[in-house]
Amino acid sequence: MLVCICKAVSDRRIREEVRRGARSLTQIREACNAGTDCGSCTRQIRQIISSSAAGSEHHQSRG
Ligand code: FES
Repeated sequence: MLVCICKAVSDRRIREEVRRGARSLTQIREACNAGTDCGSCTRQIRQIISSSAAGSEHHQSRG
């Protein structure tokens, strides 16, 4: 599913960046450009960050 239409960034891509350490909208923007155009996706990006970050605490072993 595409979260950011402008930059064609999927929810999977955002979760991947969270797994790599992104914990804010700014860091996601720098990592994959999501949310840097019209801005309508930013609320959804924040939701994905918070849900992914909360779950990732238990899965540190994957590195
Ligand atoms: S949909 Fe993400 S910046 Fe427009």
